[in-house]
Formats: sequence, C-alpha cells, structure tokens
Amino acid sequence: MVTRAGLNAFVAHAFDPEQMPHTHLELGALPTAVPCARLHVKHVLREWQQEALADTVELVVSELVTNAVRASTGLLSSEFAGHWAPGQPPVRLWLAADGQFAVVQVWDASDDLPERQEAELDAESGRGLMLVDTLADDWGSYTPEASSGKVVWAVVSETEQSAAG
Ligand SMILES: Nc1ncnc2c1ncn2[C@@H]1O[C@H](COP(=O)(O)OP(=O)(O)OP(=O)(O)O)[C@@H](O)[C@H]1O
Ligand SMILES: [Mg+2]
Repeated sequence: MVTRAGLNAFVAHAFDPEQMPHTHLELGALPTAVPCARLHVKHVLREWQQEALADTVELVVSELVTNAVRASTGLLSSEFAGHWAPGQPPVRLWLAADGQFAVVQVWDASDDLPERQEAELDAESGRGLMLVDTLADDWGSYTPEASSGKVVWAVVSETEQSAAG
C-alpha cells in the first residue's frame, strides 16, 4: 500500500514529462468535454499499452471533468500559469501512467474546492467524489502557481481496482 506522502511525491513526479508518458488536453467547459475526455484517456492508454487501467481511469476522468465543467459555469475570466485569459475558462486534463499507476489531474478556474459528500445510495447527486474515493488509491486538490482555481488529482492503480472490484 502506498502512503499518502508517497502518492503526493508520485503526483509531483508525474508532472515531469521526461519521467513518465504524459498527455494534456484543453477542453471547452461544455458537457461534451466529458465524452471527449473519456475517449482521449481510453485511446491514450491503449496507445501506451496500459489498457488494464482504462476503465477505472475513464470513470474517474468522467466524474472529475463533469465537476470541473459545472464549476466553470458563469466564470468570465481566468489565469493559468501566469497567463490571464478573458472569457469562460477551459477545463484542462492531464494523464500520466507508468503501467502500474495512472495519475489524472483536472484543472478548472473556480476557487471553490471539491467536497466529498456522504450521499445515500439512492441520492441523485453528491456521488461523484464518493465514486472517485472508492476507485482511486488517493485523490486531492491543490492550487497551481500563478493560476486561478485548482487542480483535482486522483491516482489509480491496478491493485486498488482489484481491491474495489
Ligand atoms: N471541481 C470542483 N469545483 C468546485 N466544487 C466542486 C468541484 N468538484 C466537486 N465540487 C463540490 O463537491 C461537491 C461534491 O461533488 P460530487 O461530484 O461528489 O457531487 P455532485 O457533483 O454534486 O453530484 P454528482 O457527481 O453525483 O452528479 C459538489 O456538489 C461541489 O460542491
Ligand atoms: Mg460530481
């Protein structure tokens, strides 16, 4: 079992494209961003011959991008990596994977933070992060430098999938 500190170090490591296969996608904050993001990670993981992680990564990406799109509604400008941009901010997705772990990161420009709910099984909302919590080894959020909003990240591994499945 990887410790929280270890996972956070792993997330930092995954930011270095020299160290791990890495992909990045910028999407309009629209409902169509969700299927686009899902298909992107599915195809990329197939290309990297890491299909074993694909189903779980797709589900996690789906929940995180859905939340990011919702959180972006009504925002009129944003800053990312020191660049200010007018207009509705995009949603940004990163995926890194090394065969054992995949790290999903999703940025949106809202300064509100994700809050896992304790939803009933039949609740109509508040289940997305519960699902992420179940599927991922760990997840969290942080504010990137010189940027509005936050990145919500999740680490998925084959071990956790078999434990959850
Ligand atoms: N990217 C985000 N930005 C701001 N707030 C967020 C973000 N993601 C989640 N939240 C907050 O955390 C709460 C819980 O998120 P979660 O995905 O579990 O439920 P939901 O999106 O409300 O409903 P569901 O996912 O079941 O459709 C949200 O209602 C929202 O208040
Ligand atoms: Mg949700």
